[in-house]
Amino acid sequence: MDLIESPAAMHSWGQDKPGQTIALVPTMGAFHEGHLCLMRHAAELSDRVVVSLFVNPLQFGPREDLARYPRNLARDLEMAAGARVDVLFAPKADAMYAGESLTRVRVDELTDTLCGASRPGHFDGVATVVAKLFNIVAPQVAVFGRKDLQQLAVIRRMTADLNWAIEIVGHPIVREADGLAMSSRNIYLSPAERGSALALHRVILWARERVKAGQSDAAALIAEVRTRLLHDPAIRIDYVSIVHERHLVYTPTLNRDSVLALAVFIGSTRLIDNSLLMAEE
Ligand code: PAJ
Repeated sequence: MDLIESPAAMHSWGQDKPGQTIALVPTMGAFHEGHLCLMRHAAELSDRVVVSLFVNPLQFGPREDLARYPRNLARDLEMAAGARVDVLFAPKADAMYAGESLTRVRVDELTDTLCGASRPGHFDGVATVVAKLFNIVAPQVAVFGRKDLQQLAVIRRMTADLNWAIEIVGHPIVREADGLAMSSRNIYLSPAERGSALALHRVILWARERVKAGQSDAAALIAEVRTRLLHDPAIRIDYVSIVHERHLVYTPTLNRDSVLALAVFIGSTRLIDNSLLMAEE
């Protein structure tokens, strides 16, 4: 596996591979099994796999965890090498945003709700960096996790709107044995908070059972989910929503595209999770 640090070198590497397909897996590092599953899936879909590792300052708010976001390049290199990755592209911040960058990519509407409502500017930062990565790596396929439901919807829409011939693949959420969705931020949780965090997956399973038993009214189900989550005083709800998986609009009567999307604070850690309600995950 090669380590490439300059955008120009990354660009030439891609240009040098005529006839071979490239899959890109964008990440911010601090790899866990969820990231590795995306990488292995990318290897099944293409001849070459590029994983980008860049803690993108543009997508962090002023009071968010940019400074303390976990970084461990040596460990990440070892893990990616074990997952059939060809290149780890790890540019420095000043190489990605050389000089003063005046251009932002903004996807309207889809970014106003859910996480976008409590993290203003976050998805502009995500869309901008992913657009840059698409141009630098020029992949045919890009793999994203369904854990970040809104991010996936925004990237799909941006790719269509800007006419990139890139197939966007959504990978299912990878969970710990006890159901907690894997996340680089889980290491912030104390043992007690980690226990509270299990409520997210538990309430998702419970909601899916309610739907199987005939509940089809989104407002009623949201109220039930909120009540169950608030049984634990350690949990502060950011949002509980039921939306169309791709358009992110509220679906008052559940349908096969309806997703239950959750964001909560446990202590100072913000956790998200989601699940389709009627369709198989
Ligand atoms: P990061 O949080 O490192 O996540 C990288 C990719 O891994 C994303 O597509 C995310 O959805 C996916 N992922 C994380 N945890 C997952 C899990 N438990 N199951 C399945 N997929 C999971 O998301 C970002 O980085 C950044 O916003 C990025 C797209 C790289 C832009 O900076």
